[in-house]
Amino acid sequence: MIRPEESAITQAVIDRFAQTPDPRLKAIVTHLTRSLHAFVQEVEPTFDEWLSAIGFLTDVGRMCSGSRQEFILLSDTLGVSMLVDAINHRQAGGATESTVLGPFFVDTAPTAPDGADISGGVAGEPLYVDVTISDLQGQPIAGASVDVWQCDSDGFYDVQQPDLAEHFLRARLTSGPDGKVRFWSILPTAYPIPDDGPVGQMLKATGRHPWRPAHLHFRISAQGHSALVTHLFVRGSAYLDSDAVFGVKDTLICDFPRHPPGQAPNGRTLDRPWRSLQHAFVLDGI
Ligand SMILES: [Fe+2]
Repeated sequence: MIRPEESAITQAVIDRFAQTPDPRLKAIVTHLTRSLHAFVQEVEPTFDEWLSAIGFLTDVGRMCSGSRQEFILLSDTLGVSMLVDAINHRQAGGATESTVLGPFFVDTAPTAPDGADISGGVAGEPLYVDVTISDLQGQPIAGASVDVWQCDSDGFYDVQQPDLAEHFLRARLTSGPDGKVRFWSILPTAYPIPDDGPVGQMLKATGRHPWRPAHLHFRISAQGHSALVTHLFVRGSAYLDSDAVFGVKDTLICDFPRHPPGQAPNGRTLDRPWRSLQHAFVLDGI
């Protein structure tokens, strides 16, 4: 039962926003006030709990830097990133499903030619990736910009290295006339999201684990098409059914078959087993 003097506070705040000139901003602050006050009414926090919430958000902000985005981690682990993604991808079926961008995308990835090795020489099981970009009609899309990034075999992204001199396991490629993008890399592994900050404390306090199943990230953009941000997950990886950021979709789980040593694509000969990944990405119209 909400007391009249309490609901009067909510209404007073909403009334104070009544003159907001931008109608979208007005709708957002009005809904924010209603939902936030309803949350507080339901939880009935003590002063200590309220101060602890302020402290938590302050810590999340303090944890952020050029290479660490704790607010994205918070959004991801609360499922908000996937919800925003779902709301913004209600188009007709047929296109490749999207998933979270995550905190490790950087807009300054080095460009790489078709067939390049983007591993930067780090240890791991060699992986040959051969993907096709096409439209909803199945026509290959030439000239698509394809950003790819992934962790190393210890579960770390290049931007997590303390003294990063140059990027690795990350590149920007361009699809050829046949819509294809090919590159050599290494098999990614499952990894925990950075859990040495306030988001990690939240996971620990609620009995949750920080792990993500093994995956490669892709961001694909082409003129006349909606940009696609997605992952391809390694079938059989641990944590596919309990991704810490709720990013797994069945259609994005792929086979990464293992091949014996010997002749490999692009004229390579390998003295150890290697993996391959093939996938057909389909971009939606605008
Ligand atoms: Fe990732």
